[in-house]
Amino acid sequence: YFYGQSPPVYPSPAGTGTGTWVAAYEKAAALVAQMTLDEKVEHPTRFPAPNGCSGNIPAITRLGFPGLCLQDAGNGVRGTDFVNGYPSGLHVGASWNKDLAYQRALAMGGEFRTKGVNIALGPVVGPLGRVSLSGRNWEGFSNDPYLCGSLAFETVSGIQANGVMTSTKHFIGNEQETNRNPMTNAAGQYVESVSSNIDDKTLHELYLWPFQDALHAGTGNIMCSYNRLNNSHGCGNSKILNGILKTELGFPGFVVSDWYAQHSGVGTALAGLDMAMPDSEGFWGSNLTAAINNGSVPLSRLDDMATRIIASWYQLGQDKDYPTPGVGMPADLFAPHVAVDARKPSSKTTLLQGAIEGHVLVKNTNNALPLKSPKLLSLYGYDAKVPDQNDPTTGFGSWTLGWESGNIDEALAGFYGVPQVLPISQAALNGTIISGGGSGANSPAYISAPFDALSERAYQDDTNLFWDFITVNSTSSVDGGSDACLVFINAMASEGIDRSGLHDDFSDALVNNIADQCNNTIVVIHNAGVRLVDQFIDHPNVTALIFAHVPGQDSGRALVSLLYGDTAPSGKLPYSVPKNESDFGTILNPALPEAPYTLFPQADFTEGVYIDYRAFDAQNITPRYEFGFGLSYTTFSYSSLAISTISGVSLATYPTGAILQGGQEDLWDVIARVTADVKNTGTVDGAEVAQLYVAIPGGPVRQLRGFSKVDITPGATVSVSFDLTRRDLSEWDVAAQKWKLQSGSYGISMLEKVRVMSYEI
Ligand code: NOJ
Repeated sequence: YFYGQSPPVYPSPAGTGTGTWVAAYEKAAALVAQMTLDEKVEHPTRFPAPNGCSGNIPAITRLGFPGLCLQDAGNGVRGTDFVNGYPSGLHVGASWNKDLAYQRALAMGGEFRTKGVNIALGPVVGPLGRVSLSGRNWEGFSNDPYLCGSLAFETVSGIQANGVMTSTKHFIGNEQETNRNPMTNAAGQYVESVSSNIDDKTLHELYLWPFQDALHAGTGNIMCSYNRLNNSHGCGNSKILNGILKTELGFPGFVVSDWYAQHSGVGTALAGLDMAMPDSEGFWGSNLTAAINNGSVPLSRLDDMATRIIASWYQLGQDKDYPTPGVGMPADLFAPHVAVDARKPSSKTTLLQGAIEGHVLVKNTNNALPLKSPKLLSLYGYDAKVPDQNDPTTGFGSWTLGWESGNIDEALAGFYGVPQVLPISQAALNGTIISGGGSGANSPAYISAPFDALSERAYQDDTNLFWDFITVNSTSSVDGGSDACLVFINAMASEGIDRSGLHDDFSDALVNNIADQCNNTIVVIHNAGVRLVDQFIDHPNVTALIFAHVPGQDSGRALVSLLYGDTAPSGKLPYSVPKNESDFGTILNPALPEAPYTLFPQADFTEGVYIDYRAFDAQNITPRYEFGFGLSYTTFSYSSLAISTISGVSLATYPTGAILQGGQEDLWDVIARVTADVKNTGTVDGAEVAQLYVAIPGGPVRQLRGFSKVDITPGATVSVSFDLTRRDLSEWDVAAQKWKLQSGSYGISMLEKVRVMSYEI
């Protein structure tokens, strides 16, 4: 078929429930057999009533089915009180810590459960992060599919361990916010949503990869996306829903539409959509009944929709002792309501550790950090202080503002009635950010802003603080007695709008102004995406730089722990930081509706798998900071890189196993094991992220295929070990439609820099 065209795949395969799903399917079949036609088509929700859930499925009381509450999102329960705000996806990515990702998900999932949320609308693994300026990259973990997929696996496992179902989203190719939905242009013409045109190989090796991991972890639900994929709407695309998701990857759960992403009735039903949210906009409901009655949609398809939904509910054990759907989600938070406190004391360490580990120290000259009992510490920048909880410019606005789409800059101009100094899609000047904005943000019960935590530390240490957070100009002056000057800036990003730059002049000028006056200037950037720093990084007085990402509610407390050396930094960049925007080439920016496709915007993913470090490696571009890079207060050395094959495992070219959820089961067979020793060569405790890269014959010169975070005491050596699976060592073979093990020489390397070994298959 032609590039950018999606082939038809019909009929929609009925879920059968193999593997661990057998019992759930048996129970679901028994329940669905008792449902009337009206009950089966009752997908519409009563949004926003009867509760504050983003979506609801009504109860069928006579059959003991209590209904479902679906609620955002990726870093905590959104739009309600008595919840925690966890580190965002990008922050988890920067932590490179699988155990911590699991613990975060376990704690977060517990809150969804207590609030009576059946389906948590996350994690995000699409966008993956192809477009550097994309507004939602902060919701996902990394633009590397392996890192993203590994952390998605842990996240799905941790949330679902509570019996809460995950909705892994947005399936698929949702790589930009611009034109994500159909719209009317200035000339009054209907402009379709952008089409992500992705070839089959790139789709499998990059964008589908983390979804496959989430499926392998058992995600009960997948949310289809707003964009079109190869010119067919994400929620009406038979190739990706019937073909890839439900056949190739054996998905037994159900597909829910993103909100208002359903654009046809019969079409979406036949293409494999199982639930429409927040309501069917008239496409389903009585029209679905009519379509069943006149034979346009077979009854077996409707039965399959209902069975998949009910089977997922049984699979997660929600039929037993599950809180009433929406019990902690009041429709109106400002009206009297019963307080359902979802927070558990045991989550506190996870929240703080999660916040700590996603900070990445990339520059530290003259041992500027950790701070050494400063007498006078000067603090600058709009990002140091706490914003209002209702302030939508900082991601908190989720309490009262439910942005689903549209231009957030415009929405905010309306909210404030005054123009901002900067577009919010660049920086949030009203205070620190702990997440990006939109449906992925939530409103935690408190936040620790950097200034709060630094003030508390100053109290303990008898430090004198000087602070100047004026946002209207960058002319603050510096007390010459300052031991250090901390400058706090941010790079904001939101759902619904792509970012308007990878750096902004206002914040850069602020940093340079302070650095001109202070010879120990430490820069902290809360960045909801890649943030360039070449505008100030070589200033001789900029001694240290921390990418603080989006840490959740314990932001300030975590930062202070790192600044004062109570903990050594251990985060690593989950993306590369290049020197210039132009290093990204055409995928810096979202695609626009341009001639000849002004009404049908086209995003051609012609770079294939060559995004981020794959592209920089291929084009010989040296980034400012490499993917996977991050400093600590100690140093590490690597030795004894070795590889061994696992005996008794088939090295056949193609997998032959049965299809279970996530694909052929032998894709996960471990074929080889790599080991290495890591030594802490410094003087303080620290954690290192050992990273394994593999060069698959014919592919990019290196791709991440393993990572392991280990705590090491000074002088000690720890062994790390990485299992390489069949999928890890394969390429997607388009002709065979299978993962193909290559014959030839594989290159194996570790980042810091035990260099290349070769391995023959
Ligand atoms: C639209 C967003 O794209 C999606 O991620 C979210 O879950 C829904 N709105 C519901 O709020």
